[in-house]
Amino acid sequence: MEKFVIRGGNKLNGKINISGAKNAALAIIPAAIFAGEPCRIENVPDISDVKMISKILRHIGAEVTSPEDGVLVIDPTNVKSDITIRDDMTKKLRASYYLLGVLLGQYGSACVALPGGCYFGVRPIDQHIKAFEALGAKVNTDNAVVKVESEELYGSSIYLDVVSVGATINAMLAAVKAKGLTVIENAAREPHIVDLANFLNSMGADVRGAGTEVIKIRGVSQMHGCTYSIIPDQIEAGTYMVAAAAAGGDVVINNVIPKHLESITNKLEDCGITVIEGDESVRIISDGNHPKACRVKTSPHPGFPTDMQPQFATLLCIGNGTSTVVEDVWDNRFKYIDQLRRMGANIIVNGDTALITGVEKLHSAPVEADDLRAGAAMVIAGLIADGETTIENIRLIDRGYEKLIEKLTAVGADIARVHFDEE
Ligand code: UD1
Repeated sequence: MEKFVIRGGNKLNGKINISGAKNAALAIIPAAIFAGEPCRIENVPDISDVKMISKILRHIGAEVTSPEDGVLVIDPTNVKSDITIRDDMTKKLRASYYLLGVLLGQYGSACVALPGGCYFGVRPIDQHIKAFEALGAKVNTDNAVVKVESEELYGSSIYLDVVSVGATINAMLAAVKAKGLTVIENAAREPHIVDLANFLNSMGADVRGAGTEVIKIRGVSQMHGCTYSIIPDQIEAGTYMVAAAAAGGDVVINNVIPKHLESITNKLEDCGITVIEGDESVRIISDGNHPKACRVKTSPHPGFPTDMQPQFATLLCIGNGTSTVVEDVWDNRFKYIDQLRRMGANIIVNGDTALITGVEKLHSAPVEADDLRAGAAMVIAGLIADGETTIENIRLIDRGYEKLIEKLTAVGADIARVHFDEE
């Protein structure tokens, strides 16, 4: 087993390069199946979620290289759609459900065990099913396995009842080869949805409007291989922005799209942190002393990302006054707060709202990662706490942060990955 050991108190100074976006990679890698021939994907993050989606693709017959210098080559020539993707593969990776849209769109059928992933409350897939059915597919979810099939998919109008990243992506995937025009209304607008659309178009698809609430897809009969570079990871960048703000120092975060970070930048500025935007960088300058208290409410893009909520709440633990954090996407995403309380945080949770009253200092404690972003929050807490913090269950952090130890050590953090024997 492995854990992180962090000695808090160091200021952070220097540069951090951001890797390719996890959430884009997890949609783009399975979507490469549409090419019918090899695709070269660049700027792929070397994280365990990418290893898992690659494993699933290999299971159904694709050849997938291991990421080397961020490059992954996917050859889908021998993919078979009649192989069930079992729950031992899907329970660890929510994005496994994108194989439903891809295999349905490419071969007319798919069989995928209900997906798992981080637990922040009930995670329904009714909107995905609604989209598949609108395109003419039959869907069956008996025995916790989703089976979709259709002899022919036809373009259709799909109105999503909730703004869902996953359902928007699955609807796009299922529609790229459907006959005629598909219009997805109330679509999610996250940067990785735009990235997926750009990738699909590079393979010959006709997807327009991604990044707005209405996405129009004209089905094409044939697609082809391409070379494509994934966008930088918005949440990885945001995590290091907040880490620098909390620990104090002067950190330049490179290889980012500042526009994607605006909601995070604005909140940091509300807290009195200096953020200087470059063309492809953001620089964070902070004295690490009690940021101003503020109010944060999560919402779909371009709102404040739910995936940044635990990290930002951690910054507010040492805020000057009482902050309010409202989680408006998920109904159970405050579980990590118990861990922060162990480190001395003063937080009251009432339904979807956390009231955080800043304390002078957090203190070290043995904590664990409850999920990927909660784990990132524990790292930030460890960086600002007095003494030595240990974080267990770090495999959840490894799902989404490439070279976290190397990146933080390079800017002066005292953090190490330590092996230990389970008792
Ligand atoms: C969501 C986040 C995404 C984040 C990810 C992991 C939003 C809009 N989405 O994406 O930014 O990276 O969690 O933290 O912020 N829903 C339904 N029916 C469905 C699908 C979803 O009711 O069929 C609901 C969910 O319960 C949730 C909301 O829609 O309340 C957003 O879900 P969705 O965007 O699909 O989740 P992810 O794609 O996992």
